[in-house]
Amino acid sequence: MPSSSPSRNLHKPMGNGKLGDHHQQLSNLHAAMKRHGGFPRLSASSTALVLLPLVLLVFTFFFVYPREFELQAMMSACAPPATAGVASSSSRLAEPAVVRKPDFRLLIGVLTRADLYERRHLLRMVYGLQLASGDLAAHVDVRFVFCRLYKDDQRVLVPLEILAHGDVIVLDGCEENLNGGKTYTFLSAVAELYADDPYDYVMKADDDILFRLPQLVESLGAMPREDMYYGATIPCSSMDPFREYMAGMGYALSWDLVEWIATSDVARNHSVGTEDMLTGKWLRIGGKGKNRFNAKPAIHDYRNPVPVDQCEHEFMPSTIGVHRLKSNPRWAEALKYFNFTAGLKSSKFYKFD
Ligand SMILES: *[C@@H]1O[C@H](CO)[C@@H](O)[C@H](O)[C@H]1NC(C)=O
Ligand SMILES: *[C@@H]1O[C@H](CO)[C@@H](O)[C@H](O)[C@H]1NC(C)=O
Repeated sequence: MPSSSPSRNLHKPMGNGKLGDHHQQLSNLHAAMKRHGGFPRLSASSTALVLLPLVLLVFTFFFVYPREFELQAMMSACAPPATAGVASSSSRLAEPAVVRKPDFRLLIGVLTRADLYERRHLLRMVYGLQLASGDLAAHVDVRFVFCRLYKDDQRVLVPLEILAHGDVIVLDGCEENLNGGKTYTFLSAVAELYADDPYDYVMKADDDILFRLPQLVESLGAMPREDMYYGATIPCSSMDPFREYMAGMGYALSWDLVEWIATSDVARNHSVGTEDMLTGKWLRIGGKGKNRFNAKPAIHDYRNPVPVDQCEHEFMPSTIGVHRLKSNPRWAEALKYFNFTAGLKSSKFYKFD
């Protein structure tokens, strides 16, 4: 990431080695003053008067600026942890450079339609802010996935988005509006696209679900990395992940299962039917997904005033994902509950009441 090198440079003044340099400069200055005979017979109090600004300057440099550098590093989304910057900037430190390896890698593919520009704008903010907070133990990438574009304006506006954000995957093997094979096409495309640099888990997500990434990462982090199928069990009344399948709102598969789906005859031969139900069917026929986890009720539907099924739940502090956010008021309700805007500082530029 481009921002990592400037922040590393900014950390340099914090390194131990530099401290000596500044002491050296100070005594050089002192010596120079003596050499030029500027103040050969100063009283103690006058000397203090002369040295005071210098001491302040040094103090400012060591104690005020480093804080500012830290702050800048914290605000820069892709900056490495402060300790990594310090360690790598000073070869004199005995310990090896601290490079924090992510616990696992997760790809979230949001299956959506090209025309839903406004929803993508919202989702980019929702996931971008969570990723920028920089406290996730995992490496998470979010991509927006469509079938082939079918309108002239899309063929300009989507490239514009790709230029600006670079987070779009356009699948070649499916058509939008036909309820056929988008999930299969997505999973098999991903297996090929990322074959050289695989993820640990691939998640399929709807565009009307809000995932809280810290909670999701914590939950997935505790799972086996192989032969793993994770989500919210269907039917809604069931808590048994081996009974049928995981709801299409958002489920994760370990990389080996994604590869298996991409290459197995089982998936290719059973590609007609309700998308997410098929995923469960393939795994059942293939005897795959020995490790399964039902994340209900933490992954749940938005609760209607009169609930229609047991997939619905009110927002909880432990919520990992909430689905059926079909309108901006519902998104606002969820984002407010989960404190997404709580960090906003007061300013003369806006007022909300
Ligand atoms: C898939 O279909 C082909 C062609 O009909 C058949 O030869 C093959 O045995 C099937 N494989 C599975 C695993 O169902
Ligand atoms: C949101 O912030 C409030 C106030 O700090 C806190 O009481 C509440 O638990 C937070 N909600 C969640 C879901 O974290």
